[in-house]
Amino acid sequence: IPRAAVIGDPISHSLSPKLHGHWLRRYGLAGEYTALHVNKDDLQQTLRDLPGQGFVGANITLPHKVRVLDYADHVSDRATLIGAANTLIFKEDGGIYADNTDGYGFIANLRQGAPDWDPKAGPAAIFGAGGAARAIIVGLADAGVPEIFLSNRTRLKADGLKAEFGARIKVVDWVKAGAMLANATTVINSTSLGMTGAQDFKVSLEALRPDAVVTDIVYNPLQTEFLKQAAAKGCRTVDGLGMLLHQGVPGFERWFGKRPEVDEETRRAVL
Ligand code: ATR
Repeated sequence: IPRAAVIGDPISHSLSPKLHGHWLRRYGLAGEYTALHVNKDDLQQTLRDLPGQGFVGANITLPHKVRVLDYADHVSDRATLIGAANTLIFKEDGGIYADNTDGYGFIANLRQGAPDWDPKAGPAAIFGAGGAARAIIVGLADAGVPEIFLSNRTRLKADGLKAEFGARIKVVDWVKAGAMLANATTVINSTSLGMTGAQDFKVSLEALRPDAVVTDIVYNPLQTEFLKQAAAKGCRTVDGLGMLLHQGVPGFERWFGKRPEVDEETRRAVL
């Protein structure tokens, strides 16, 4: 039977085994999906060994998403652009194909959660410039967002993303981050602020437009203070769990031969 795994360090917190296990049961497919705790020194050898053990692919999570590009034989354009991979396909000839579905997952989640969301309606505003922001920027640019305002506590990282991803990006100082919201019709928290155990999101959302679609990559808790404030302003909000669920779709389809659905049942299965 085909096997796949999620590989990270640490790995016990990953929801992917629940997600893929749910899909395998739901569609009555023969397959297995497990979590593998692999440290960076063992990553390359593990990836070489897995195909011989019946593995058809893997998801890659923190902290290996960037490093894994070095161990792949083919890297998709999207993974190259984002500079990281989260989905591997082991080819029949033993080669490793690396792709990134995080930007896809982000966009698919917004489209499902806010069906009338129009990426072209106005600028996007992103808080945060870490790894998650890279995939989100690529996803938004693909979707046709005309302009992206980007603000990060460490401004240098936002400037770096502008240098890499181009003129569509306008960097805003973290102390003035709230001002990005005046025209934004798509608003994203890509920082870890608001996560259980982390600091709160404190930037004022005073300037938020009620017609903006607002989403958070934090999904623990599901209803973050950021989303609650946006909802109080009348905005449509989309929680971050769906991004995780949707990013798993392309890998599952490739490994197990069935394009899985993301719906309430899927959400319940991982929570
Ligand atoms: P990920 O890959 O998940 O995006 P990351 O690269 O560690 O993770 O990025 C975390 C993001 O949350 C960064 O934008 C980080 O800001 P810095 O680049 O300044 O570190 C942001 N972040 C984390 N803690 C923060 C805090 N207390 N205040 C503001 N931003 C914070």
